[in-house]
Amino acid sequence: MNETMKTILTRRSIRSFQEKPIPEEDVKQLVDAALHAPSGMGKQTWKFTVVMNREKIQKLAKAIGAALGRDGYDMYQPEVLIIPSNLKESPFGREDNACALENIFLAAHSLGIGSVWINQLQGICDQPEIRAILKEFEIPDDHVVYGMAALGYGDGEPAPKERIGQTAYIR
Ligand SMILES: Cc1cc2nc3c(=O)[nH]c(=O)nc-3n(C[C@H](O)[C@H](O)[C@H](O)COP(=O)(O)O)c2cc1C
Repeated sequence: MNETMKTILTRRSIRSFQEKPIPEEDVKQLVDAALHAPSGMGKQTWKFTVVMNREKIQKLAKAIGAALGRDGYDMYQPEVLIIPSNLKESPFGREDNACALENIFLAAHSLGIGSVWINQLQGICDQPEIRAILKEFEIPDDHVVYGMAALGYGDGEPAPKERIGQTAYIR
């Protein structure tokens, strides 16, 4: 099996992170992976905001927790949060950003970095307390966030997960 297949088949979501910084050159590789994802009609209307400050990440997590009534929500306390955003009116924004996120997850796994999709922001981006933080993070007002990548070195090895789903081979 080649390395790419191994990376795809062994990636798991990681929800417990060590307090250990990710080297900036690795973070930049993750962003590069995101930028190389496919996008509808090649429009690339996305933006990737990289938050490398645990306090700032926790400020956002706390605001999300308050907005959703989930006291103590901490987004698993990642070291780095990559926030892909996209134009609200982009017809492909959600799909483009999902492709970018998967590239980030696979690239992260290939570098020994754990990751998980954080879904909580979509639907609450325009709540004033949330938008104020997104503004601090220089995310444009006309952008929406569909999902984010929480990143860090995992605490322990996750077990493989059984994969189910219908398949059909028509010959
Ligand atoms: C659209 C989407 C939203 C997700 N949202 C969250 C989330 O908010 N929090 C979380 O812990 N995991 C989230 N996940 C991760 C899934 O729970 C995870 O991928 C799934 O259980 C399969 O496990 P695996 O990633 O280890 O293969 C999300 C995944 C997707 C694709």
